Amino acid sequence: MLQFVLALLAGLGLLAWGVTQFVQTTAQNWFARDVSLRARLVVTGARASLASHWNKEHRRELRKQLSEITRDERVMAAAACTLDFSRLTATPDFPDGFGCQEVGDHMQSPTGTPEAPLQEWNSVNRLPAGSVAVSAIPLWDDGLEVGFVVLLQDLSYAERREDATTKFLLAAFGVVALLAALVTLAIARLSRQAWSAELRKALRGDRTQRPEFQPILRDVRELVERMIEDTGDTSGAWTAERLKQTLRRNLRGERVVILANREPYVHNREPDGSIRVLHPASGLVTALEPVLRACSGVWIAHGSGTADRDTVDRSDRVRVPPGEESYYIRRVWLSQQEEDGYYYGFSNEGLWPLCHLSHARPLFRSEDWIEYQLVNERFADAVAAEVDSDDPIVLVQDYHFALAPALIRERLPAATVIMFWHIPWPNSERFGICPWRNQILEGLLGSSILGFHTQFHCNNFFDSVDCYLEARIDHEQHGVIRQGHPTLVRPYPISLEWPVRWLESAPSQPECREQVWRELQLKPDALLGVGVDRLDYTKGVEERLLAVETLLERFPQFIGRFTFVQLAAPSRTKIDRYRELNELVEQLAARINVRFGSGSYRPIILRRFHHEPPDVFRYYRAAHVCYVSSLHDGMNLVAKEFVAARDDLRGVLLLSQFTGAARELTEALIVNPYDLEEVSTALATALRMPAEEQAIRLRSMRTLLSHFNVYRWAGEMLSDAARLRSHERLTGRLLEGAAAE
Ligand code: F6P
Repeated sequence: MLQFVLALLAGLGLLAWGVTQFVQTTAQNWFARDVSLRARLVVTGARASLASHWNKEHRRELRKQLSEITRDERVMAAAACTLDFSRLTATPDFPDGFGCQEVGDHMQSPTGTPEAPLQEWNSVNRLPAGSVAVSAIPLWDDGLEVGFVVLLQDLSYAERREDATTKFLLAAFGVVALLAALVTLAIARLSRQAWSAELRKALRGDRTQRPEFQPILRDVRELVERMIEDTGDTSGAWTAERLKQTLRRNLRGERVVILANREPYVHNREPDGSIRVLHPASGLVTALEPVLRACSGVWIAHGSGTADRDTVDRSDRVRVPPGEESYYIRRVWLSQQEEDGYYYGFSNEGLWPLCHLSHARPLFRSEDWIEYQLVNERFADAVAAEVDSDDPIVLVQDYHFALAPALIRERLPAATVIMFWHIPWPNSERFGICPWRNQILEGLLGSSILGFHTQFHCNNFFDSVDCYLEARIDHEQHGVIRQGHPTLVRPYPISLEWPVRWLESAPSQPECREQVWRELQLKPDALLGVGVDRLDYTKGVEERLLAVETLLERFPQFIGRFTFVQLAAPSRTKIDRYRELNELVEQLAARINVRFGSGSYRPIILRRFHHEPPDVFRYYRAAHVCYVSSLHDGMNLVAKEFVAARDDLRGVLLLSQFTGAARELTEALIVNPYDLEEVSTALATALRMPAEEQAIRLRSMRTLLSHFNVYRWAGEMLSDAARLRSHERLTGRLLEGAAAE
């Protein structure tokens, strides 16, 4: 507004200047004409008497005549000049500067002969005392030219009038400008008040007649929603409660359905006949279980426990978590053939090595592929049976269900399917070796949203689509459009609940150390490293043990003091490659123990059995170092769990650069697990790291995890889903409206 007023004033100023210039020039022209006319009249009136005395003898009489003429207050002086331009006479105050010769020169016609009659001449001379008008009027007697009269007239009165007019005009313009500015300000203020009152009404939800508000209303609402989402709750942090609210607000309380192969609670029959509930060692379960506890809903999974069938109701459902029962698991039973082909075969001997750069050869058997398709169909049927609306939100998890998104869409066209791929996505060349690459891509593109841990894996996916499918990649919207169906492809780095619930009941750090020291029979001054994994060749367990061996070779001062305990949950042991790994790791540990062990000291302690989370957390809290050495990993939640467990701000994390987690946990000691020298140096550095540095690194990583927790992971995906849904609903409404017209 101020700019507008200033521009207005500048414009008016310019206009005022222009007008005064115009008025001054016009007035000067008028005055000049007026003065020359008067001179002509005066001389014409006195012509007879002047002519009768027009000779040297009558000079006195002639001067008298001229003096008569100067009685007019404006005529200052007069002179009589002969035809040869000499002065006959002049009034006393006629200045010498105006000689007859100079004036006469001007009166001669520029083209005429010397005999040609003289012409009247008028001019204005600006003198220090003021302006003077000079008029030279030829004098005729009886048709003969006898000379000319020069009159000097005072023009200062004209200048005074010009000055007064200019001042008046400027003052008038000043007043007009001021009034215009005031009126503009007043109008602007009033319209702004009216505009904001109307906008406020519209924002409160009242109907507005002003269509120009619509875009702004949309933007403001979107902004407000984002701000609520970002600042929500108490401190802006994502919590279970906030996730619940997001769900309620955005998804109108719709029930979340999760489809994941691994169930969060496995019921196993113990040798004594009792039933034991087990938390499987799975990053997917660690991350997703708190989400479903917060949201309620249903988790559809393979019922793999030995007592799973004994714990379900007639609809194959069981309420969990035990004692809390906030959601339920719907178990799907698989025959041995199905499990072998779908889970062990295509998922874990085909897709798993295909997606991980860990030098295992993928095996693609068509009988496995058939089972994989059939089982995906069966799970899609289970989803369709479990949902409570035509347009549910279904969260499909991982590589076991690459075909499920498209199959679910066939059954539930209005569903919002969010697919999250927990493992890396290979480059397009590597992906291309899968004989059923197109079907897999088509299956995944049935999703509304397809998530990976990193942008890098999203890019690999785009490249694969680009290479093998007829589809449009929309780089601006981060999506793929195939046969008119859009899929958003975005990174959503997964994380842990915060705070991690296992910490609530965990013993204090000194107690953990005492218990673990006792269990492992360590000396009081021992230094402990810990590794926690499913026993999988992608985790780099062999490289990890070799790095410990290199440490003891290169830094012998740690022999007898440093012990590395590996908690290794057996996994997929039906597969040869996994069985071999078990043996290799066993042999390697034994060899290193023989080489560097003595008495009760063993540098490697291999605990090859399932550990429940409270146990794992005791080890995290007791250790000096945790080493995550994955050769390739989508995220790796062990790294995040170690950081979460160390609320005492002690301990050092060594983290493979080939994990998704290394992109977030940059204060860990990031290493290349293949480079044993580098890792052994990093291990030595970690074991010698001052407590303050440990605290600084951990504090920073813990802050990051507290903000980027799994509630945020789920919240962002669900918010994106909500945006898609409201867009689809709106489009649907518009289409309905158009059809009705
Ligand atoms: O990393 C992907 C993942 O699904 C993890 O969630 C889990 O650690 C593993 O693979 C699955 O293991 P399992 O075959 O025992 O379910």
